[in-house]
Amino acid sequence: MKETNRRTFLKGVATLSAIGAVKCGSAMMKSEQAAYDKYNALKIPRPEGLLDGEPVLQTPAPDSMGVAFAVTALANGFAEVADNPEMKNATRFMAEGLPLADIDDRVLCVRMTGLKPGTKYWYRTGAAKLEHPVGYWTKPSEIVWHAIHSFTTAGENAPSHFGMMCDTHAQFEQMARITKKYRELGVPLMVWNGDIPNSLTNAREDFVKHYLVPPHNEGYAADTPIVLNRGNHDFRGTAANRLGEVMMPRLPTERSMRDIALDRNFAFRMGEVALIGLDTGEDKPDHHPANGGFSRFTPYRVAQTAWLKDQFKRPEIANAPYVVAFVHIPLVELWPGANPGTTLEDYATWQKECADMWGPILTANKVQLVLAGHTHRYRYDAATDTRSWAEIIGGGRGAKTFQTLIEGKVEGGELVIRVHNTDAGTIVGEHRFKPRA
Ligand SMILES: [Fe+2]
Ligand SMILES: [Fe+2]
Repeated sequence: MKETNRRTFLKGVATLSAIGAVKCGSAMMKSEQAAYDKYNALKIPRPEGLLDGEPVLQTPAPDSMGVAFAVTALANGFAEVADNPEMKNATRFMAEGLPLADIDDRVLCVRMTGLKPGTKYWYRTGAAKLEHPVGYWTKPSEIVWHAIHSFTTAGENAPSHFGMMCDTHAQFEQMARITKKYRELGVPLMVWNGDIPNSLTNAREDFVKHYLVPPHNEGYAADTPIVLNRGNHDFRGTAANRLGEVMMPRLPTERSMRDIALDRNFAFRMGEVALIGLDTGEDKPDHHPANGGFSRFTPYRVAQTAWLKDQFKRPEIANAPYVVAFVHIPLVELWPGANPGTTLEDYATWQKECADMWGPILTANKVQLVLAGHTHRYRYDAATDTRSWAEIIGGGRGAKTFQTLIEGKVEGGELVIRVHNTDAGTIVGEHRFKPRA
């Protein structure tokens, strides 16, 4: 390319990015002029139907918030966030990725960063359909937006209030009673404590259905961020290790290089309560033939043990009046001889490996409560002389069980845990915890 033509070309590109249209210089080569003409000739109609379902807030942190949503055609995604409902001076984010922002024909994930802890924000998400009128030259449509929603970031000044649901197992009508309840109660953050699917996850679209467009649950996480903590069923199927394409992992800046693989563990404050997420993994040992020789849950649990110890060195965790740990498989032996998850027979009722590794750390740090799932039956086990923490198991899907929403809130100088039976619309348990000494 001659130097003069090259300059004109570059000027054209700058104009393209600035106003979304191109005015070509007369010095442009004929072939390039033809390309620009073709590019400009394409008029993309407003892409009605591009957005599929509502945004799903996820992976909350004191200074960031993830959001994902489904689309029906190749698009790029945006989130705008502001400290006021009119969206004045909103900051716009694109789907993650450098040097290329992510584009996709089904799932768009955007992370809003640089946020203040414990602060209410308003946001909206949107997408622009992408066409390629000339080779790889990409032309976006206008952006279509979801409605404006809001969230509050985590942090020591956030509300001392959270919820937990578990073992929903793709029973979407039953799940809708939970998601309706926590929205009625104004719970600012929900931990989804494992066993989200009911069968194998063999395609990303399965994740889309479970998380982004679950039937009967439209908007379930548009104003309530979801913290995902996996259960044994979440590791099954050939797409299981592609979960991060739909439910975002935590930012690498939240952990050390040693712990870089632990992209789902979490430890942050919601007001006076520190929430800690630990992943118990599969309900069978690594040498079980079901795992095909490629599962590594024991080293995964060991890695989390080192991570867990270090969390209590962080002042905001060490000084928290209340600490609640989340696991999917219980850490308490539910009855003498209950399956500990280390044998080839059946499957774990409780997770002995995790209990042995993590239990003493939780006790040494005076953690008051472990919230678990997996057995599908609400159960309370009090703390003992040798164990600082009580364990509460949430109810899940099943003919003889009921689904629970476990709500935690600091009231009158105590952490009050209310166990809602969302099938019956009743409260079936209330447990109170004093602040840590
Ligand atoms: Fe389950
Ligand atoms: Fe389970």
